[in-house]
Amino acid sequence: MADHKFGGPWTLVKLDLLEKYLHFFGTALQDQPKPDSRFRRCYIDAFAGTGKCTVRVGKTARATVQGSAEIALATEPAFDVLHLIDLDPLHAEDLRLLASSAAPRDVRVYQEDCNAALRRIIESTDWKGTRGVAFLDPYGMALHWETLKAIADTKALDAWYLFPLSGIFRQAARDFNRMLPENAEAIDRILGTDEWRERFYLTDCQTVLVDEDQATRRYRVATPRDIAAYVHERLCSIFRGWVSPPVILPESGAPLFALFFAVSNPASKAVELSMRGAGHLFEMLRKKRIGPRNLTTPADESSLSLF
Ligand SMILES: C[S@@+](CC[C@H](N)C(=O)[O-])C[C@H]1O[C@@H](n2cnc3c(N)ncnc32)[C@H](O)[C@@H]1O
Repeated sequence: MADHKFGGPWTLVKLDLLEKYLHFFGTALQDQPKPDSRFRRCYIDAFAGTGKCTVRVGKTARATVQGSAEIALATEPAFDVLHLIDLDPLHAEDLRLLASSAAPRDVRVYQEDCNAALRRIIESTDWKGTRGVAFLDPYGMALHWETLKAIADTKALDAWYLFPLSGIFRQAARDFNRMLPENAEAIDRILGTDEWRERFYLTDCQTVLVDEDQATRRYRVATPRDIAAYVHERLCSIFRGWVSPPVILPESGAPLFALFFAVSNPASKAVELSMRGAGHLFEMLRKKRIGPRNLTTPADESSLSLF
């Protein structure tokens, strides 16, 4: 198995939220809409990894934990179908092993870019009879807005999306005039608009006064929280059920991600149910009761006191 090293304590927060939400979702939909004709429950992991991950939990300590794909496979009540996507050939190989060890369960592995795979999965699923959870956990800026919109348009998927704030910061040069076109295009793709050029940047009035040639000079003024608030606004424009306010991760230090939970189904019963499940988890998170319980290889106890 590939040793998949990434993330830090926030990774454990995100995985614990996922584990608890998947259990809630399966239980809540167990007999819906009717016990004798229930929804088919599906799980989609757009960046599935290998099934395990090795996470930094202290200055030098690391711990190996179940990754999202293993967590989803272990969820009870079980999903009827699991779609596991990863671009990396070694990761996909591990996912295939995971799928074969789960046989005869319906576990499908896609070794390709998430945008192409998600589109196919969405197009080939009957969303009238299916409800599901999509876990969107990229390293960087890989998920395109159009794909996110396709997820929202199912009106049947709840999504957990770890939005890469640090990716935006890396691509969005402080001085707009120095921005590489390909970086601007990457931001257009992830946000689905070029409006961010106005929202994140301001013309520097001082340079306008001092030197008229520099009248078009613009600087990034948006903070990570401003960017997260803007992403929230954008998500609300396509997810018609509910979008949670962002949870900025990690909780201290430089913000790397904004975690969102988004409900695509606008029906009030569905919204109430998803909000109840996720709302309870956010409350647990606020009380610091979400964290490292799924450690399989505790590394060093002192690092765990973080939680
Ligand atoms: C943060 S890791 C996911 C971790 C996983 N969710 C877990 O809990 O173990 C991101 C994964 O996305 C994969 N990846 C990167 N770019 C991708 C793309 N365009 N499409 C699909 N997978 C991609 C990487 O190979 C990596 O395994």
